[in-house]
Amino acid sequence: MNFKFTSQSLDEKRTVVFMSHESENPIVPYFARSLDKEADGTIAKAFNENNFRGEENKNLTISMPQSTKISRIIFQGLGPQDTLNRERLLEAGGALARALTKEYRCEINLLEFQIKSFSPEEIANDLALGIMMKSWSFRRYKTASEANNISCSDVSKLEEVSFVVPNPTKAEDLFVNTRAIEEGISLSRNLSMEPPNILYPRSMALILKDLERFGVLVSILEKEKIEELGMGALLGVSRGSSRDPQVVIMEWNGNPNTNEVIAFVGKGVTFDSGGLNLKSWSGMKEMKYDMTGAATVSGLIRTLARRKSQVNAVGIVGLVENMPSGTSQRPGDIVRTMSGKTVEVLNTDAEGRLVLADVLWYAVEFYKPKLVIDLATLTGAISVALGDYYAGLFSNSEDFSKKLIKTGLEVGEKVWLLPLSKYYDKMLEGRISDLQNISDLQGAGSILAAQFLQNFVKNTPWIHLDIAGVAWTERNRPLYDKGPTGFGVHLLNRFVQSYFE
Ligand code: BES
Ligand code: ZN
Ligand code: ZN
Repeated sequence: MNFKFTSQSLDEKRTVVFMSHESENPIVPYFARSLDKEADGTIAKAFNENNFRGEENKNLTISMPQSTKISRIIFQGLGPQDTLNRERLLEAGGALARALTKEYRCEINLLEFQIKSFSPEEIANDLALGIMMKSWSFRRYKTASEANNISCSDVSKLEEVSFVVPNPTKAEDLFVNTRAIEEGISLSRNLSMEPPNILYPRSMALILKDLERFGVLVSILEKEKIEELGMGALLGVSRGSSRDPQVVIMEWNGNPNTNEVIAFVGKGVTFDSGGLNLKSWSGMKEMKYDMTGAATVSGLIRTLARRKSQVNAVGIVGLVENMPSGTSQRPGDIVRTMSGKTVEVLNTDAEGRLVLADVLWYAVEFYKPKLVIDLATLTGAISVALGDYYAGLFSNSEDFSKKLIKTGLEVGEKVWLLPLSKYYDKMLEGRISDLQNISDLQGAGSILAAQFLQNFVKNTPWIHLDIAGVAWTERNRPLYDKGPTGFGVHLLNRFVQSYFE
């Protein structure tokens, strides 16, 4: 999709979009009144008949008389002016994407739309991101639509959007960031959507290698190297699979003036069958997206590189497939992690924490980062607590967690602080090993998983995001249709921008 920024309306027959704040009575915004005169009151009539008040996520489409230069006008509601935030702007973009699916081109006119909290150029960029996010679709395996050009009803025809704003250069500068975020989100969503027969540790590692074309340094650790490093917990998970594990390291060195680095670690279980503790069919059917933590870390690194972020960041992902077979690890097996700690694997389906134990240790040991953030579809329990809207946040740093919570509210990717406590350590103490990977007791599933991870970060400031609930959505939402959301790319890009550049 193409986005243009100009300071003047196009001089051609076109569809024009205007923004509308919520007001008690349906009224035509002042800047559309001269148009309304030209069109003999068509606009006012439509406002009245449809009782359109500028409510959020609503829009009003009006067909204009032949005599005018404008074929259709769309008014996009933004909700109440005093509480307008970026999430609502993104969602307005999402609503527009739906309203514009049958248009090839359109103009979004923000020339006379002014509010205190956002410049028209910022509004244009948030709308653009919202449009792109809602328009994302995954059609690689739809042969009919590709070959015969049969249109799918849910696929947008929109090719070009022109924003009319007072300062097009400023809008274009901001758009470098917007486009980079969109690319990162799409990379994450594409990887999560790929079927597990196509996307497995090796094939995913090769896709990530491709980030080198944006200046990212990518190294792949093969099985032999992983063995040499002593990542026994990660290796244990992958034992049942015929596919070798991979650890991929993506370095973006954007700030040569410092050695300081921030590390992002991702769970990359390309398929989680549960292993010998096999999942039920309904629990297993979408377990291809158990690599979303890794996908989002990769998307983030791409975003940082694409906008040439002045930060040193490293993304490290542990890629494995969790399968049952004659070579699988068994409940009761004891593995030795890279840290030296031993773990009794009492449930082979609690595998994410085993993978992360070794990758987190690797990150803190070799990079000594200022902060390490891991992302993982770690527990089903987190969606019991928080559903598909808030991610669970666990941290040993009050300072960094406050900052991330604040950033979440700013961009509309929200995180909720849940507790860690020494109290829970008792529940993970092993009988004949240092640790066990699950507790003998019921309850606190997400906390226990986080508490387990804490054993492998030393004293490094650390944030764990359990994204099992938010990584995938089952319903159509303002910015997503059913499927992967790319949650975390926008959030962490903004967090890096605000606190590390
Ligand atoms: N990958 C799952 C967690 C998950 C569940 C992600 C649903 C997305 C949607 C994880 O590996 C897992 O199976 N966790 C178990 C842990 C349990 C055995 C202690 C769970 O949540 O049931
Ligand atoms: Zn599992
Ligand atoms: Zn899993």
